Order: sequence, then C-alpha cells, then structure tokens
Amino acid sequence: MKNLENTSLNSTNCVLIGFMGSGKSTIARELHQLSGRFALDSDCVIAYNENLSINEIFAQKGESYFRTLEARFCTFIAQYLKGAIIATGGGMPISCNVQSMGRVFYLHLEFEEILARLNSEEIHSRPLFKNPDLALALYASRLNAYKNNAHHIINANATPSTIAQEILKQL
Ligand code: S3P
Repeated sequence: MKNLENTSLNSTNCVLIGFMGSGKSTIARELHQLSGRFALDSDCVIAYNENLSINEIFAQKGESYFRTLEARFCTFIAQYLKGAIIATGGGMPISCNVQSMGRVFYLHLEFEEILARLNSEEIHSRPLFKNPDLALALYASRLNAYKNNAHHIINANATPSTIAQEILKQL
C-alpha cells in the first residue's frame, strides 16, 4: 500500500474528462497506483448515493435529474476536496464547470477507437451509447466543450501506464 504521507493533499485535484469509453476510470486507477492519491469516480459516487445503476437513474428519474447530481458532485469536490484524482462522467463539462474542481486533463480518442474498445456490456451500461449513430453525433457535438474546458489535452491512444505518467509529469 502507498504511503499517503507522500500524497500532496494540499495540492490541486487532477480531473479527467473525455467521452464515454475514453479510459477515464482506468487512468484514474492507474494514477492512484502510481501516485497514491485517492481516486474518485463521479458515476460510482452518484450510483452509490442513489442506490441505482446509471441506467436506472436515467430510466427512472431522467437525464436532467442525473445532470443535477453531477453538478452537485462538482460543487462538493470544488468546495471540500484537494489532492485527489477525479474521473468524471462524459457529460460533466456540459453540466458543470469542471475547472472549478482542479487541473483538467482531456483524454482524447477518435470515436472509431472508442467504438472498437468498448464491449457490448460496456455499451449497454451507458444509456447514451446504446445507439452508435446517436453516440457519434453526441461525440461530435461535445468535442469543442472537451477542448475548451481542458488545461491539458492528452492523446489517450497509449497504454494506461504511459498516459498516467504523462499526466503526472504535467500535474
Ligand atoms: C455520460 C457518460 C457516462 C455516464 C452517463 C452519461 C455522458 O459516464 O455519466 O451515462 O453523458 O457522456 P462515462 O463517461 O464514464 O461512460
């Protein structure tokens, strides 16, 4: 286990943004392994608090309710957390000010690469990815928001370890 005394708990959070399937959660865990900083995933926190899966939240309570929860997560992190790794849901740059949470790294992958990486379970657990044509349109509509909200743009077409090391160098 890493020595948490080595983690810079006074330092800024490292915030990962990017489209569904770009590897945010995987890279967040890798960053935890390399740096010892705690990693938090917004979807996991929201699903845990609601005691529902992300699919169930969308189906039972609607997307706008989910976006409100994302905005509240964002406000909480900005107000109370430092020195952590934050993996965000793919829509968070649309629902809140991600830069308020910390230093923002956009994990960029071409849509074709994302499609090739996701297995059917990963597609079906994501309410906005079930129809690939609609997912492609969503991807295109969000590219500018990802770029404009990033302090750093990272080419996510590399191994998790390479990507995490690049992020740590720039943090
Ligand atoms: C969403 C992305 C998902 C999840 C929800 C909505 C989006 O997270 O928050 O299904 O709007 O792009 P991942 O990016 O981790 O798949």
